[in-house]
Amino acid sequence: MDDQETELPPHVLIFPYPAQSHVAAMLNLAQILCHGGIHVTFLVTHDIHRRLLRHSTAVQSHLASYSGFRFETISDGLPEDDPRSGDKVMELFRSFRVTAKPLLRDLLRSDRVRDSDSGRKRISCIIVDGVLGFALGVAEEIGIPVIFFRTTGACNNWAHFCGPKLIEAREVPFEGNNMDVPIKSVPGMDGFLRRRDLPSFYRVIDVANHDLQLFFSETQQTTQARAIILNTFEELEGPILAQARTQWPQIYTVGPLHAHLKVRLTSNVTSNSLWEEDMTCMTWLDVQPAKSVIYISFGSITMMTKDQLMEFWHGLLNSGKRFLWVIRPDSVFGKDWENHIPTKILERTKERGCIVGWAPQEEVLAHKSVGGFLTHSGWNSTLESIVAGVPMICWPYFGDQQLNSRFVGEVWKLGLDMKDTCDRVTIENMIRDVMDVKRQEFQESLDRMAKLARKAITEGGTSYCNLDCLIRDIRLMV
Ligand code: UDX
Repeated sequence: MDDQETELPPHVLIFPYPAQSHVAAMLNLAQILCHGGIHVTFLVTHDIHRRLLRHSTAVQSHLASYSGFRFETISDGLPEDDPRSGDKVMELFRSFRVTAKPLLRDLLRSDRVRDSDSGRKRISCIIVDGVLGFALGVAEEIGIPVIFFRTTGACNNWAHFCGPKLIEAREVPFEGNNMDVPIKSVPGMDGFLRRRDLPSFYRVIDVANHDLQLFFSETQQTTQARAIILNTFEELEGPILAQARTQWPQIYTVGPLHAHLKVRLTSNVTSNSLWEEDMTCMTWLDVQPAKSVIYISFGSITMMTKDQLMEFWHGLLNSGKRFLWVIRPDSVFGKDWENHIPTKILERTKERGCIVGWAPQEEVLAHKSVGGFLTHSGWNSTLESIVAGVPMICWPYFGDQQLNSRFVGEVWKLGLDMKDTCDRVTIENMIRDVMDVKRQEFQESLDRMAKLARKAITEGGTSYCNLDCLIRDIRLMV
């Protein structure tokens, strides 16, 4: 390293998996690191880059103003015009892992990430998505330390880590007919965990199943890295983190990152959206009474059948509540569903509902008119609801969501878990419970947890201090 280089700030490569929630959380971290004086190269696919430039105000405003931030782009292996969402999600997952490994190696070996003229050091640390375990081997070849960022909660990581133990104890695999059997081999979760609450990848008959084994091995691999970053906070997942700390050398809990970012930058909301946010729903919310609206959104990946769509629709209308519903154009199986909704339903919807293709979710949850959240229990949605103090009805779709919803309903008491059910009567009843009957009960736990979340990200709080430690440790990795 020459004299000139030693004067320069450390340079980190951040490499998220190409999906909304992964990119958004890691962009939040990138902004905080840039703000802390670290240079960041943010590696994304061409598709994600294009969409961020078009829709993310964080990229257009904040990040554009940091001289220490820049993008590098690679292919995800799919033809440019192919859809990357809806039912193509697993195709992207498989294709990307194969394509990205040699591209990452080339990038790290090339001079593209180090340009002395623009005053950047050689990369001294890689912060890579925890589902891209191959990066560990590549970085080791080149001699760069890796920190994994798992965008799901500690509970999901721990449940995957314990996978081999579950198989050994013959708790997995299981047939689908008795999903309420308790699971005992996940330390810290015995007493409330049932088969149906395990991450959905466990719902297989054959434990040699490729996706299940992949999730086990990716999780095991993260223990080999220098450290792991989790978008959670100690006060939310303390008992599970205590278990996880017996296996991971270092865990930085820095969440909830979306709120932490605002504290660090002392600024208002900036979006990391990959879709165009329909702001008309905010004007609609402005004229609704306080806490009168149930917000329904199932994140960026969930899909439903036309039958499920209609059950939700009837349940919502029959509840008599006002509603704001995000229906992504690619979220219903099959084509042309829009043209088959009965006119009567559309008329009733107009009286008290608003439907958009993508909403500014953080702003929606913070709006005074919103009194409940019917969610798929994605980790980011869960954290956003906690910070906003909005009670949840959970309808988990896949992955970690089955487990998140159990924690929301049974452990944290922040809402109701509706997993494995989708009928209009249950939906109607749960909406009434969350919005009226049990509101007070949930509100007390929510207020407490929202307060703890705020404390964690305030100067002196657990997540705040951990993020300072992360920045300090990155500075030491030269
Ligand atoms: C996926 C998995 O499904 C989830 O379980 C896992 O924890 C992370 O990866 P996703 O389904 O997109 O993520 O859910 P989630 O983690 O909740 O993230 C969705 C993000 O999109 C949230 O940050 C939310 O604010 C944002 N969003 C969603 C919008 O901004 N507008 C919308 O209309 C809907």
